[in-house]
Amino acid sequence: MRSITLATILALSAAACTTMEAAPLADTANPARMVSPILTTPEAEDTQTWAEPERARVTHVALDLDLDFDARRVGGTAMLDVLAEPGADTIVLDTNGLEIARVTDGSGRELPWEIESMEETGAKGEPLRITLNGARTIRIDYRAPADASALQWLSPEQTEGGVHPFLFSQGQAILNRTWIPTQDSPGIRQTWEARITAPKPLDVVMSGVRQGEPEDLGNGRRAFRFVMDKPVPPYLIAIAAGDIDFALIGPRTGVWAEPATLPRARAEVGDTEEMVEAAEALYGEYRWGRYDMIVLPPAFPYGGMENPVMTFLTPTFIAGDRSNNGLIAHELAHSWSGNLVTNAVWGDSWLNEGVTTYFENRIMEAVYGEKRAEQEAALMYANILETLNEVGRDAPGTALSTDGEYELGSAIAYEKGAFFLMTVESIVGRERFDAWLRQWFDNHAFQPATSEMFYADMMANLVRDEAEAERLTLREWIFEPGLPENVAKPDPAAFAAVDQAVLYYATRYSTPVDGPNPPARVSFPEDHWFGWTSAERQRFLANLPADLTEIEMRILDDNLRLSQSANNEELFLWLNYALDHRYEPVVPLVEQFLARVGRAKFVRPLFATLWGEGEWGRPIAQRIYADTRASYHSVTQAGVDRVLASD
Ligand code: BES
Ligand code: ZN
Repeated sequence: MRSITLATILALSAAACTTMEAAPLADTANPARMVSPILTTPEAEDTQTWAEPERARVTHVALDLDLDFDARRVGGTAMLDVLAEPGADTIVLDTNGLEIARVTDGSGRELPWEIESMEETGAKGEPLRITLNGARTIRIDYRAPADASALQWLSPEQTEGGVHPFLFSQGQAILNRTWIPTQDSPGIRQTWEARITAPKPLDVVMSGVRQGEPEDLGNGRRAFRFVMDKPVPPYLIAIAAGDIDFALIGPRTGVWAEPATLPRARAEVGDTEEMVEAAEALYGEYRWGRYDMIVLPPAFPYGGMENPVMTFLTPTFIAGDRSNNGLIAHELAHSWSGNLVTNAVWGDSWLNEGVTTYFENRIMEAVYGEKRAEQEAALMYANILETLNEVGRDAPGTALSTDGEYELGSAIAYEKGAFFLMTVESIVGRERFDAWLRQWFDNHAFQPATSEMFYADMMANLVRDEAEAERLTLREWIFEPGLPENVAKPDPAAFAAVDQAVLYYATRYSTPVDGPNPPARVSFPEDHWFGWTSAERQRFLANLPADLTEIEMRILDDNLRLSQSANNEELFLWLNYALDHRYEPVVPLVEQFLARVGRAKFVRPLFATLWGEGEWGRPIAQRIYADTRASYHSVTQAGVDRVLASD
């Protein structure tokens, strides 16, 4: 470990925290509005934006948009409030595929603009440069393209109800520039408001607070109004529209879903109010007012997305027994880590996801007890080891802070990030750690942050002396690949029973009754299985013997009713194992699964496993994908396209 004195650290931390303005200040166009500072240090520079925020930046976005379900297009106007340095005569926005009709200032005066055409920018899109001519409000008339990758338009057949179309957006990481012309960078926070019109009887929700009742426009359409008065990174602006209803959970919690899904959804999320209380008890006030959720149709490509005041959820987390509620704890925890304190650059996404995964586990412990939390942590730890074994312990992508691409499903940002904090907690003690994390959220609320700032803050406000600093190895954890030796390993007792069953099953043979087959593993104590927690079952399924025969798989499936599992995490593990072993009888079930589930975390690996099975699996993959591709979100499509293009 490098030896750095505390004095140096303090000096560094002062430098790292330099922002354009020291603290939130007032919006010049509208003094009542809160404006967040930006960071100007080199490591806070976002390579995924065209914006030049230190010259001119957007502080507020007002959208007035019509949802056109026939053309599958969104269009209207965006009014932006601008904060510009003296002498800055242009502002640069992010766009990707937007059709700009006109740009004016607040009083309707045309402003010159240009979309600079760049080579091969991909998702980064193109810069829209607008000459300000002194304007501090700009109005953009525009339309989003029909294939805007942030938006997924579902046909009625893709919904549970089957009668009405559906729309939802997904902004993270850099997709919102396909439907909103603004500075699309996590370090440039903006307040926003919106007026959205939609055809009756559809309802619209957003990641902002709905204002009053929808207004009937008399032309078969209604207008909905929303406000987000706290500055948020623009990837958190989100919309969903469809035939949806609402059910209350607690005083500030509720859930939206299609009428046909709502009862199951409401039952599954029944612990949410308690989770919010647990989260507040840990790390301070929930600052966003309501915490509502929407359970989307199955095409939603993620498990969940932490859109403020309106978490978006996949319906595939519904298991009937709340066993996948870690997802809710996770998205809720983002209300602090991610939404309150936000990674300034995507290469530091562990600041969002790792801190959230740690926080998630603390909520699970508070609400469901130590055993469940320890088991879920042990599953996370196994994921880290699996990833490190796959890519190698010195692969640069295994550092928490990376300058590279950010991929969901990497155990590094999520699970290594969580184990970093668990390790720090175990060294300094829970009491000191919790006090530190709470002040981190409080002192950086509504602001962007970097790995360097996180480190400096720990050195300044947590670490007691050099001896402790040496034991913590903070820089190794954050900036170096692999897994530091001081990692607080999960309690091996968490899965003692399962690990014993794994061994027992792997080594116990008996002679099958039906004829001349070789001895098979049949003596799994299935009475245990049905009493196990979902984490225990997942642990078992992740550790099946590598050499199960067809007959053994059949017996296991029959005994444990794996193919009938109501928990999609378990079902996925089983299907993936079975495909990896070319177990033909699951193919129709896989086909059904891939037709009803659009979540990339499940879909991509199943196709990858089939693809890995060469002449057996590839034709199956191609046949299924030909039917299902059109129903997937662009994120899921892109993932599977890559798999089926590889050899
Ligand atoms: N913010 C992420 C989803 C995300 C990550 C979207 C990267 C786009 C790019 C969300 O909070 C998340 O982590 N979802 C997980 C939940 C799980 C870890 C409990 C998911 O969707 O699987
Ligand atoms: Zn997350």
